[in-house]
Amino acid sequence: MADEKSYKYVIVGGGVAGGYAAREFTNQGLKPGELAIISKEPVPPFERPELSKVYIDSGANPTLAKHYVCAGTGGERQYPKWYKDKGIDLILSTEIVKADLASKTLVSDDGQIFKYQTLLIATGSTFVRLSEFGIQEADIKNIFYLREIEDSDELALAMEIYKKGGKTVVIGGGYLGLELSAALRANNHEVTMIFPEPWIMHQLFTAEMASFYEGYYANKGIKIIKGTLATGFNTNSNGEVTEVKLDDGRILEAGMVVVGVGGRPVTSLFKGQVVEEKGGIKTDALFKTSVPNVYALGDVATFPMKIYGEMRRVEHADHARKSAVHAVKAIKAVEEGRTVPDYDYLPYFYSRFFDLSWEFYGDNVGETILFGDNDPKNSKPKFGTYWVKDGRVVGVFLEGGTSEENKAIANVARAQPSVESLDVLSKEGLSFATNL
Ligand code: FDA
Ligand code: NAD
Repeated sequence: MADEKSYKYVIVGGGVAGGYAAREFTNQGLKPGELAIISKEPVPPFERPELSKVYIDSGANPTLAKHYVCAGTGGERQYPKWYKDKGIDLILSTEIVKADLASKTLVSDDGQIFKYQTLLIATGSTFVRLSEFGIQEADIKNIFYLREIEDSDELALAMEIYKKGGKTVVIGGGYLGLELSAALRANNHEVTMIFPEPWIMHQLFTAEMASFYEGYYANKGIKIIKGTLATGFNTNSNGEVTEVKLDDGRILEAGMVVVGVGGRPVTSLFKGQVVEEKGGIKTDALFKTSVPNVYALGDVATFPMKIYGEMRRVEHADHARKSAVHAVKAIKAVEEGRTVPDYDYLPYFYSRFFDLSWEFYGDNVGETILFGDNDPKNSKPKFGTYWVKDGRVVGVFLEGGTSEENKAIANVARAQPSVESLDVLSKEGLSFATNL
Protein backbone atom coordinates (compact mmCIF):
# COMPACT_ATOMS: atom_id res chain seq x y z
CA MET A 1 0.00 0.00 0.00
CA ALA A 2 1.23 3.50 -0.88
CA ASP A 3 2.65 5.65 1.89
CA GLU A 4 -0.10 8.05 3.11
CA LYS A 5 0.35 11.14 5.28
CA SER A 6 -2.24 13.52 6.58
CA TYR A 7 -1.86 17.21 7.48
CA LYS A 8 -4.02 20.09 8.55
CA TYR A 9 -2.28 22.32 5.98
CA VAL A 10 -0.31 21.44 2.85
CA ILE A 11 1.57 23.98 0.73
CA VAL A 12 2.35 22.69 -2.76
CA GLY A 13 5.39 24.57 -4.02
CA GLY A 14 8.43 25.58 -2.00
CA GLY A 15 9.27 28.89 -3.63
CA VAL A 16 8.96 32.45 -2.41
CA ALA A 17 5.26 32.25 -1.52
CA GLY A 18 5.62 28.79 0.05
CA GLY A 19 8.44 29.94 2.32
CA TYR A 20 6.73 33.12 3.46
CA ALA A 21 3.48 31.23 4.07
CA ALA A 22 5.35 28.77 6.31
CA ARG A 23 6.77 31.62 8.35
CA GLU A 24 3.37 33.26 8.74
CA PHE A 25 1.87 29.97 9.97
CA THR A 26 4.51 29.92 12.71
CA ASN A 27 3.81 33.59 13.54
CA GLN A 28 0.10 32.82 13.84
CA GLY A 29 0.60 29.67 15.94
CA LEU A 30 1.27 26.24 14.50
CA LYS A 31 1.39 22.87 16.22
CA PRO A 32 4.09 20.33 15.26
CA GLY A 33 2.92 18.01 12.48
CA GLU A 34 0.18 20.35 11.21
CA LEU A 35 2.01 21.70 8.13
CA ALA A 36 3.87 20.17 5.19
CA ILE A 37 5.55 21.96 2.30
CA ILE A 38 6.04 19.81 -0.77
CA SER A 39 8.52 21.07 -3.34
CA LYS A 40 9.94 19.78 -6.58
CA GLU A 41 13.19 21.64 -5.89
CA PRO A 42 15.93 20.02 -3.78
CA VAL A 43 16.44 23.09 -1.57
CA PRO A 44 14.27 24.91 0.99
CA PRO A 45 12.31 27.97 -0.16
CA PHE A 46 14.68 30.72 -1.26
CA GLU A 47 14.51 34.23 -2.68
CA ARG A 48 14.22 33.27 -6.36
CA PRO A 49 15.26 36.75 -7.63
CA GLU A 50 18.82 35.97 -6.52
CA LEU A 51 19.15 33.24 -9.15
CA SER A 52 19.73 35.81 -11.89
CA LYS A 53 21.73 38.22 -9.72
CA VAL A 54 24.28 37.48 -6.96
CA TYR A 55 23.90 33.69 -7.21
CA ILE A 56 24.56 33.37 -10.94
CA ASP A 57 27.38 35.88 -10.73
CA SER A 58 29.29 34.28 -7.88
CA GLY A 59 31.49 31.98 -9.97
CA ALA A 60 32.26 28.36 -9.20
CA ASN A 61 31.19 28.42 -5.53
CA PRO A 62 27.70 29.85 -5.37
CA THR A 63 25.95 29.64 -2.02
CA LEU A 64 22.20 29.65 -1.95
CA ALA A 65 21.71 29.31 1.82
CA LYS A 66 22.15 33.01 2.48
CA HIS A 67 19.22 33.62 0.10
CA TYR A 68 16.78 31.30 1.88
CA VAL A 69 13.61 33.10 2.82
CA CYS A 70 13.21 35.48 4.51
CA ALA A 71 16.46 37.12 3.36
CA GLY A 72 14.56 39.36 0.95
CA THR A 73 12.76 41.18 3.77
CA GLY A 74 15.61 41.02 6.27
CA GLY A 75 14.01 38.21 8.31
CA GLU A 76 15.42 35.07 9.91
CA ARG A 77 16.82 32.57 7.35
CA GLN A 78 14.73 29.43 7.18
CA TYR A 79 17.33 26.63 7.03
CA PRO A 80 16.15 23.00 7.11
CA LYS A 81 16.66 23.08 10.89
CA TRP A 82 14.17 25.97 11.15
CA TYR A 83 11.44 23.77 9.63
CA LYS A 84 12.42 20.82 11.85
CA ASP A 85 12.39 22.95 15.01
CA LYS A 86 8.92 24.26 14.14
CA GLY A 87 7.58 20.76 13.45
CA ILE A 88 7.01 21.50 9.74
CA ASP A 89 7.56 18.64 7.27
CA LEU A 90 9.77 20.05 4.49
CA ILE A 91 9.39 17.50 1.71
CA LEU A 92 11.90 18.30 -1.04
CA SER A 93 12.69 16.83 -4.48
CA THR A 94 9.08 15.67 -4.60
CA GLU A 95 6.73 16.62 -7.40
CA ILE A 96 2.99 16.44 -6.97
CA VAL A 97 1.71 14.81 -10.15
CA LYS A 98 -1.97 14.46 -9.28
CA ALA A 99 -4.31 16.63 -7.26
CA ASP A 100 -7.88 15.60 -6.48
CA LEU A 101 -9.50 18.56 -4.79
CA ALA A 102 -12.80 16.71 -4.22
CA SER A 103 -11.16 14.05 -2.02
CA LYS A 104 -8.47 16.45 -0.70
CA THR A 105 -5.70 14.18 -1.93
CA LEU A 106 -2.34 14.78 -3.57
CA VAL A 107 -0.12 12.13 -5.16
CA SER A 108 3.61 12.57 -5.69
CA ASP A 109 5.90 11.30 -8.45
CA ASP A 110 7.21 8.62 -6.08
CA GLY A 111 3.71 7.41 -5.21
CA GLN A 112 3.26 9.09 -1.81
CA ILE A 113 -0.26 10.18 -0.93
CA PHE A 114 -0.85 13.39 0.99
CA LYS A 115 -4.20 14.28 2.55
CA TYR A 116 -4.96 17.80 3.69
CA GLN A 117 -7.72 19.84 5.30
CA THR A 118 -6.55 23.12 3.75
CA LEU A 119 -4.44 23.38 0.59
CA LEU A 120 -2.25 26.32 -0.42
CA ILE A 121 -1.29 26.28 -4.10
CA ALA A 122 2.08 28.01 -4.54
CA THR A 123 3.40 26.33 -7.68
CA GLY A 124 4.68 29.58 -9.23
CA SER A 125 5.56 29.88 -12.91
CA THR A 126 7.60 28.01 -15.44
CA PHE A 127 9.43 29.35 -18.48
CA VAL A 128 8.00 29.55 -21.97
CA ARG A 129 10.06 27.47 -24.40
CA LEU A 130 11.16 28.56 -27.88
CA SER A 131 9.56 25.39 -29.23
CA GLU A 132 6.21 26.99 -28.33
CA PHE A 133 6.97 29.54 -31.08
CA GLY A 134 7.67 26.69 -33.51
CA ILE A 135 11.48 26.76 -33.14
CA GLN A 136 13.27 23.38 -33.16
CA GLU A 137 15.53 23.37 -30.11
CA ALA A 138 14.80 20.22 -28.11
CA ASP A 139 17.92 18.24 -28.97
CA ILE A 140 20.37 21.11 -29.18
CA LYS A 141 23.01 21.44 -26.45
CA ASN A 142 23.94 24.74 -24.76
CA ILE A 143 20.55 26.40 -24.86
CA PHE A 144 19.67 27.50 -21.33
CA TYR A 145 16.51 28.60 -19.54
CA LEU A 146 16.26 29.82 -15.95
CA ARG A 147 13.59 29.25 -13.35
CA GLU A 148 14.78 26.83 -10.69
CA ILE A 149 17.98 26.20 -8.76
CA GLU A 150 19.08 23.37 -11.04
CA ASP A 151 18.69 25.61 -14.13
CA SER A 152 20.84 28.20 -12.41
CA ASP A 153 23.58 25.72 -11.52
CA GLU A 154 23.69 24.43 -15.10
CA LEU A 155 23.82 27.97 -16.47
CA ALA A 156 26.56 29.01 -14.01
CA LEU A 157 28.66 26.02 -15.06
CA ALA A 158 28.24 26.81 -18.74
CA MET A 159 29.09 30.46 -18.05
CA GLU A 160 32.40 29.29 -16.54
CA ILE A 161 33.19 26.98 -19.46
CA TYR A 162 32.39 29.45 -22.24
CA LYS A 163 33.54 32.63 -20.60
CA LYS A 164 36.87 33.05 -22.33
CA GLY A 165 35.54 35.44 -24.94
CA GLY A 166 32.67 33.05 -25.59
CA LYS A 167 29.97 34.42 -27.83
CA THR A 168 26.61 34.20 -26.13
CA VAL A 169 23.26 35.13 -27.61
CA VAL A 170 20.50 36.15 -25.19
CA ILE A 171 17.01 35.74 -26.63
CA GLY A 172 14.42 38.01 -24.98
CA GLY A 173 14.48 41.65 -23.92
CA GLY A 174 12.50 41.39 -20.68
CA TYR A 175 13.57 40.97 -17.07
CA LEU A 176 15.67 37.86 -17.55
CA GLY A 177 17.22 39.16 -20.77
CA LEU A 178 18.42 42.30 -19.01
CA GLU A 179 19.63 40.65 -15.82
CA LEU A 180 21.33 37.68 -17.45
CA SER A 181 23.02 39.73 -20.18
CA ALA A 182 24.62 41.81 -17.42
CA ALA A 183 25.74 38.71 -15.50
CA LEU A 184 27.16 37.13 -18.67
CA ARG A 185 29.01 40.31 -19.64
CA ALA A 186 30.41 40.64 -16.10
CA ASN A 187 31.80 37.13 -16.68
CA ASN A 188 33.55 38.24 -19.89
CA HIS A 189 31.11 36.80 -22.41
CA GLU A 190 30.63 38.60 -25.70
CA VAL A 191 26.89 39.14 -25.44
CA THR A 192 24.33 39.88 -28.14
CA MET A 193 20.72 40.39 -27.05
CA ILE A 194 17.91 39.87 -29.53
CA PHE A 195 14.23 40.57 -29.06
CA PRO A 196 11.20 41.37 -31.22
CA GLU A 197 10.12 44.69 -29.66
CA PRO A 198 11.36 48.16 -30.70
CA TRP A 199 13.07 48.65 -27.33
CA ILE A 200 14.19 46.77 -24.24
CA MET A 201 11.74 45.96 -21.38
CA HIS A 202 8.93 47.10 -23.62
CA GLN A 203 6.30 45.95 -21.09
CA LEU A 204 7.38 48.62 -18.56
CA PHE A 205 9.94 51.03 -19.96
CA THR A 206 9.13 53.98 -22.20
CA ALA A 207 11.35 54.54 -25.24
CA GLU A 208 13.23 57.28 -23.33
CA MET A 209 13.89 55.04 -20.34
CA ALA A 210 14.97 52.19 -22.60
CA SER A 211 17.39 54.45 -24.46
CA PHE A 212 19.30 54.95 -21.18
CA TYR A 213 19.60 51.20 -20.51
CA GLU A 214 20.41 50.37 -24.13
CA GLY A 215 23.13 53.05 -24.12
CA TYR A 216 24.49 51.80 -20.80
CA TYR A 217 24.58 48.21 -22.11
CA ALA A 218 26.30 49.34 -25.31
CA ASN A 219 28.95 51.10 -23.19
CA LYS A 220 29.47 47.82 -21.35
CA GLY A 221 30.03 46.06 -24.69
CA ILE A 222 26.67 44.35 -25.05
CA LYS A 223 25.28 44.32 -28.57
CA ILE A 224 21.51 44.73 -28.95
CA ILE A 225 19.53 43.69 -32.00
CA LYS A 226 15.92 44.83 -31.81
CA GLY A 227 12.82 44.00 -33.80
CA THR A 228 14.14 40.51 -34.52
CA LEU A 229 13.03 36.96 -33.89
CA ALA A 230 15.20 33.88 -33.68
CA THR A 231 13.98 31.31 -36.18
CA GLY A 232 16.38 28.41 -35.57
CA PHE A 233 19.88 27.21 -34.78
CA ASN A 234 22.84 25.58 -36.50
CA THR A 235 24.85 22.97 -34.60
CA ASN A 236 28.18 21.13 -34.81
CA SER A 237 28.60 17.35 -35.02
CA ASN A 238 28.23 17.09 -31.20
CA GLY A 239 24.81 18.69 -31.41
CA GLU A 240 26.09 21.88 -29.75
CA VAL A 241 24.73 25.20 -30.86
CA THR A 242 27.10 27.17 -33.12
CA GLU A 243 24.82 29.79 -34.67
CA VAL A 244 21.48 31.50 -34.18
CA LYS A 245 19.40 32.20 -37.28
CA LEU A 246 17.35 35.42 -37.31
CA ASP A 247 14.18 36.16 -39.25
CA ASP A 248 15.89 38.92 -41.25
CA GLY A 249 18.38 36.39 -42.64
CA ARG A 250 21.26 37.32 -40.33
CA ILE A 251 23.22 34.58 -38.60
CA LEU A 252 24.91 35.11 -35.23
CA GLU A 253 27.80 33.00 -33.96
CA ALA A 254 26.99 31.46 -30.54
CA GLY A 255 28.78 29.09 -28.15
CA MET A 256 25.75 29.21 -25.90
CA VAL A 257 22.27 30.68 -25.94
CA VAL A 258 20.28 31.96 -22.97
CA VAL A 259 16.52 32.29 -23.34
CA GLY A 260 14.10 34.49 -21.38
CA VAL A 261 10.92 34.73 -23.42
CA GLY A 262 8.38 34.87 -20.63
CA GLY A 263 6.82 32.88 -17.83
CA ARG A 264 3.58 30.97 -17.45
CA PRO A 265 1.80 30.04 -14.18
CA VAL A 266 1.88 26.34 -13.22
CA THR A 267 -1.80 25.49 -12.90
CA SER A 268 -2.15 22.26 -14.90
CA LEU A 269 -2.62 20.04 -11.81
CA PHE A 270 -5.81 21.89 -10.97
CA LYS A 271 -7.29 22.35 -14.48
CA GLY A 272 -11.02 21.75 -14.54
CA GLN A 273 -11.18 21.69 -10.73
CA VAL A 274 -10.85 25.41 -9.94
CA VAL A 275 -12.11 28.50 -11.74
CA GLU A 276 -9.35 30.23 -13.72
CA GLU A 277 -9.07 33.78 -15.01
CA LYS A 278 -6.43 35.64 -17.01
CA GLY A 279 -4.24 32.54 -17.12
CA GLY A 280 -4.17 32.03 -13.36
CA ILE A 281 -6.29 30.54 -10.60
CA LYS A 282 -9.08 32.95 -9.72
CA THR A 283 -9.17 33.98 -6.06
CA ASP A 284 -11.01 36.44 -3.89
CA ALA A 285 -9.25 39.21 -1.99
CA LEU A 286 -8.22 36.68 0.70
CA PHE A 287 -6.75 34.26 -1.91
CA LYS A 288 -9.59 31.73 -1.55
CA THR A 289 -10.19 29.86 -4.81
CA SER A 290 -13.55 28.62 -6.07
CA VAL A 291 -13.03 25.41 -4.06
CA PRO A 292 -13.57 25.54 -0.27
CA ASN A 293 -10.35 25.31 1.78
CA VAL A 294 -8.14 25.76 -1.28
CA TYR A 295 -6.05 28.93 -1.56
CA ALA A 296 -3.74 30.15 -4.36
CA LEU A 297 -0.74 32.43 -3.74
CA GLY A 298 2.04 34.18 -5.60
CA ASP A 299 2.43 33.91 -9.39
CA VAL A 300 -0.52 31.51 -9.86
CA ALA A 301 -3.20 33.73 -8.30
CA THR A 302 -5.45 36.04 -10.31
CA PHE A 303 -6.81 38.25 -7.55
CA PRO A 304 -8.81 41.48 -7.22
CA MET A 305 -6.32 44.34 -7.42
CA LYS A 306 -8.33 46.66 -5.19
CA ILE A 307 -6.49 49.88 -6.05
CA TYR A 308 -7.35 49.53 -9.78
CA GLY A 309 -10.67 47.69 -9.42
CA GLU A 310 -9.76 44.77 -11.67
CA MET A 311 -8.55 41.17 -11.57
CA ARG A 312 -4.81 40.82 -12.13
CA ARG A 313 -2.01 38.33 -11.86
CA VAL A 314 1.45 39.47 -10.75
CA GLU A 315 4.71 37.59 -11.43
CA HIS A 316 6.97 39.37 -8.94
CA ALA A 317 8.53 38.55 -5.58
CA ASP A 318 6.95 41.28 -3.45
CA HIS A 319 3.44 40.06 -4.26
CA ALA A 320 4.50 36.42 -3.72
CA ARG A 321 5.62 37.33 -0.19
CA LYS A 322 2.66 39.54 0.67
CA SER A 323 -0.03 37.29 -0.81
CA ALA A 324 1.37 34.36 1.18
CA VAL A 325 1.26 36.29 4.44
CA HIS A 326 -2.24 37.57 3.69
CA ALA A 327 -3.63 34.15 2.80
CA VAL A 328 -2.31 32.55 5.98
CA LYS A 329 -3.73 35.39 8.09
CA ALA A 330 -7.07 34.81 6.35
CA ILE A 331 -6.96 31.04 6.94
CA LYS A 332 -6.25 31.49 10.65
CA ALA A 333 -8.89 34.23 10.95
CA VAL A 334 -11.57 31.94 9.49
CA GLU A 335 -10.62 29.23 12.00
CA GLU A 336 -10.83 31.68 14.88
CA GLY A 337 -14.04 33.38 13.73
CA ARG A 338 -12.27 36.66 12.97
CA THR A 339 -12.11 38.67 9.75
CA VAL A 340 -9.15 40.23 7.96
CA PRO A 341 -9.26 43.17 5.57
CA ASP A 342 -9.14 42.56 1.82
CA TYR A 343 -5.68 42.41 0.22
CA ASP A 344 -4.88 45.89 -1.02
CA TYR A 345 -1.75 45.54 -3.10
CA LEU A 346 0.32 48.31 -4.65
CA PRO A 347 2.32 46.80 -7.54
CA TYR A 348 6.05 46.94 -6.85
CA PHE A 349 8.66 45.69 -9.33
CA TYR A 350 12.42 46.09 -9.11
CA SER A 351 15.63 44.96 -10.73
CA ARG A 352 19.38 45.21 -10.26
CA PHE A 353 22.18 44.71 -12.80
CA PHE A 354 25.73 46.08 -13.17
CA ASP A 355 25.81 49.09 -10.80
CA LEU A 356 22.21 49.97 -11.56
CA SER A 357 19.14 49.48 -9.46
CA TRP A 358 15.59 50.60 -10.12
CA GLU A 359 12.18 50.44 -8.49
CA PHE A 360 8.71 50.92 -9.93
CA TYR A 361 5.44 51.34 -8.06
CA GLY A 362 1.88 51.55 -9.33
CA ASP A 363 0.51 51.28 -12.84
CA ASN A 364 2.32 52.12 -16.09
CA VAL A 365 -0.69 53.54 -17.92
CA GLY A 366 -1.44 57.00 -19.34
CA GLU A 367 0.92 59.76 -20.39
CA THR A 368 4.52 59.79 -19.22
CA ILE A 369 7.03 62.39 -18.20
CA LEU A 370 10.73 61.70 -17.75
CA PHE A 371 12.70 63.51 -15.05
CA GLY A 372 16.37 63.60 -14.02
CA ASP A 373 19.51 62.80 -15.95
CA ASN A 374 19.25 59.74 -18.18
CA ASP A 375 22.61 60.09 -19.90
CA PRO A 376 24.04 56.54 -20.08
CA LYS A 377 27.56 57.93 -19.66
CA ASN A 378 26.68 59.24 -16.20
CA SER A 379 28.47 57.09 -13.62
CA LYS A 380 25.76 57.71 -10.97
CA PRO A 381 22.55 58.02 -12.98
CA LYS A 382 19.37 59.15 -11.27
CA PHE A 383 16.27 59.57 -13.35
CA GLY A 384 12.68 58.47 -13.38
CA THR A 385 9.30 58.55 -15.01
CA TYR A 386 5.83 59.51 -13.82
CA TRP A 387 2.75 57.96 -15.42
CA VAL A 388 -0.30 60.25 -15.37
CA LYS A 389 -3.86 59.09 -16.01
CA ASP A 390 -6.97 61.28 -15.77
CA GLY A 391 -4.88 64.06 -14.17
CA ARG A 392 -3.45 61.81 -11.44
CA VAL A 393 -0.01 60.29 -11.00
CA VAL A 394 -0.60 56.53 -11.01
CA GLY A 395 2.89 55.10 -11.49
CA VAL A 396 6.48 56.11 -10.72
CA PHE A 397 9.82 54.62 -11.76
CA LEU A 398 13.17 55.61 -10.29
CA GLU A 399 16.68 54.52 -11.24
CA GLY A 400 19.38 55.01 -8.61
CA GLY A 401 17.06 56.14 -5.80
CA THR A 402 17.96 56.09 -2.11
CA SER A 403 15.70 54.11 0.18
CA GLU A 404 14.02 57.37 1.28
CA GLU A 405 13.41 58.39 -2.33
CA ASN A 406 12.03 54.96 -3.16
CA LYS A 407 9.64 55.23 -0.22
CA ALA A 408 8.57 58.63 -1.54
CA ILE A 409 7.75 57.31 -5.02
CA ALA A 410 5.82 54.40 -3.46
CA ASN A 411 3.77 56.95 -1.49
CA VAL A 412 2.97 58.84 -4.69
CA ALA A 413 1.81 55.71 -6.50
CA ARG A 414 -0.40 54.81 -3.54
CA ALA A 415 -1.82 58.33 -3.02
CA GLN A 416 -2.30 59.07 -6.74
CA PRO A 417 -2.06 62.86 -6.28
CA SER A 418 -3.56 65.10 -8.93
CA VAL A 419 -1.26 67.26 -11.07
CA GLU A 420 -2.00 70.45 -12.96
CA SER A 421 0.07 69.50 -15.97
CA LEU A 422 2.93 67.34 -17.15
CA ASP A 423 5.07 70.51 -17.21
CA VAL A 424 4.77 70.79 -13.43
CA LEU A 425 6.02 67.24 -13.00
CA SER A 426 8.79 67.82 -15.47
CA LYS A 427 9.95 70.97 -13.61
CA GLU A 428 9.64 69.51 -10.12
CA GLY A 429 11.10 66.13 -11.02
CA LEU A 430 11.85 63.89 -8.05
CA SER A 431 11.04 66.68 -5.57
CA PHE A 432 7.36 66.29 -6.54
CA ALA A 433 7.54 62.90 -4.83
CA THR A 434 9.90 63.74 -1.96
CA ASN A 435 7.86 66.84 -0.99
CA LEU A 436 4.49 65.11 -1.04
P1 FDA B 1 8.14 30.21 -7.23
O1 FDA B 1 8.48 29.98 -8.65
O2 FDA B 1 9.08 31.00 -6.40
O3 FDA B 1 7.99 28.80 -6.51
C1 FDA B 1 7.20 27.76 -7.03
C2 FDA B 1 7.69 26.46 -6.44
O4 FDA B 1 6.74 25.44 -6.70
C3 FDA B 1 9.01 25.96 -7.02
O5 FDA B 1 9.84 25.51 -5.99
C4 FDA B 1 8.57 24.78 -7.90
O6 FDA B 1 9.55 23.79 -8.04
C5 FDA B 1 7.41 24.27 -7.09
N1 FDA B 1 6.47 23.42 -7.82
C6 FDA B 1 5.83 23.70 -8.98
N2 FDA B 1 5.04 22.68 -9.33
C7 FDA B 1 5.16 21.76 -8.37
C8 FDA B 1 4.59 20.47 -8.16
N3 FDA B 1 3.71 19.94 -9.02
N4 FDA B 1 4.97 19.76 -7.07
C9 FDA B 1 5.85 20.28 -6.18
N5 FDA B 1 6.41 21.49 -6.32
C10 FDA B 1 6.07 22.22 -7.40
N6 FDA B 1 10.65 39.19 -9.05
C11 FDA B 1 10.94 40.43 -8.54
O7 FDA B 1 10.04 41.09 -8.04
N7 FDA B 1 12.20 40.94 -8.61
C12 FDA B 1 13.22 40.24 -9.15
O8 FDA B 1 14.35 40.73 -9.20
C13 FDA B 1 12.96 38.94 -9.67
N8 FDA B 1 13.94 38.19 -10.22
C14 FDA B 1 13.68 36.93 -10.71
C15 FDA B 1 14.72 36.17 -11.23
C16 FDA B 1 14.45 34.91 -11.75
C17 FDA B 1 15.59 34.09 -12.32
C18 FDA B 1 13.14 34.40 -11.77
C19 FDA B 1 12.86 33.04 -12.34
C20 FDA B 1 12.11 35.15 -11.24
C21 FDA B 1 12.38 36.42 -10.69
N9 FDA B 1 11.36 37.20 -10.14
C22 FDA B 1 11.65 38.43 -9.61
C23 FDA B 1 10.00 36.69 -10.05
C24 FDA B 1 9.76 36.05 -8.66
O9 FDA B 1 10.86 35.23 -8.32
C25 FDA B 1 8.49 35.24 -8.69
O10 FDA B 1 7.42 36.13 -8.93
C26 FDA B 1 8.29 34.51 -7.36
O11 FDA B 1 9.31 33.57 -7.16
C27 FDA B 1 6.94 33.82 -7.35
O12 FDA B 1 6.84 33.09 -6.18
P2 FDA B 1 5.97 31.74 -6.14
O13 FDA B 1 6.19 31.17 -4.78
O14 FDA B 1 4.63 32.03 -6.64
O15 FDA B 1 6.68 30.80 -7.21
P1 NAD C 1 9.39 38.82 -19.54
O1 NAD C 1 7.93 38.73 -19.70
O2 NAD C 1 9.97 39.87 -18.66
O3 NAD C 1 10.05 39.05 -20.98
C1 NAD C 1 9.75 38.22 -22.04
C2 NAD C 1 10.47 38.76 -23.24
O4 NAD C 1 10.44 37.74 -24.22
C3 NAD C 1 9.83 39.95 -23.93
O5 NAD C 1 10.26 41.17 -23.42
C4 NAD C 1 10.27 39.76 -25.35
O6 NAD C 1 11.43 40.52 -25.58
C5 NAD C 1 10.65 38.32 -25.45
N1 NAD C 1 9.86 37.57 -26.44
C6 NAD C 1 8.54 37.39 -26.47
N2 NAD C 1 8.20 36.61 -27.51
C7 NAD C 1 9.35 36.30 -28.15
C8 NAD C 1 9.69 35.53 -29.28
N3 NAD C 1 8.76 34.92 -30.02
N4 NAD C 1 11.00 35.42 -29.62
C9 NAD C 1 11.95 36.05 -28.90
N5 NAD C 1 11.69 36.79 -27.81
C10 NAD C 1 10.41 36.91 -27.45
O7 NAD C 1 9.86 37.35 -19.12
P2 NAD C 1 11.30 36.81 -18.69
O8 NAD C 1 12.31 37.89 -18.80
O9 NAD C 1 11.50 35.55 -19.45
O10 NAD C 1 11.07 36.48 -17.17
C11 NAD C 1 10.38 35.29 -16.79
C12 NAD C 1 9.63 35.48 -15.49
O11 NAD C 1 10.53 35.81 -14.44
C13 NAD C 1 8.61 36.59 -15.50
O12 NAD C 1 7.56 36.18 -14.67
C14 NAD C 1 9.30 37.75 -14.84
O13 NAD C 1 8.42 38.63 -14.19
C15 NAD C 1 10.17 37.03 -13.84
N6 NAD C 1 11.39 37.80 -13.57
C16 NAD C 1 11.26 38.97 -12.91
C17 NAD C 1 12.38 39.71 -12.63
C18 NAD C 1 12.22 41.01 -11.89
O14 NAD C 1 11.13 41.32 -11.45
N7 NAD C 1 13.31 41.76 -11.72
C19 NAD C 1 13.63 39.26 -13.03
C20 NAD C 1 13.73 38.06 -13.74
C21 NAD C 1 12.59 37.33 -13.99
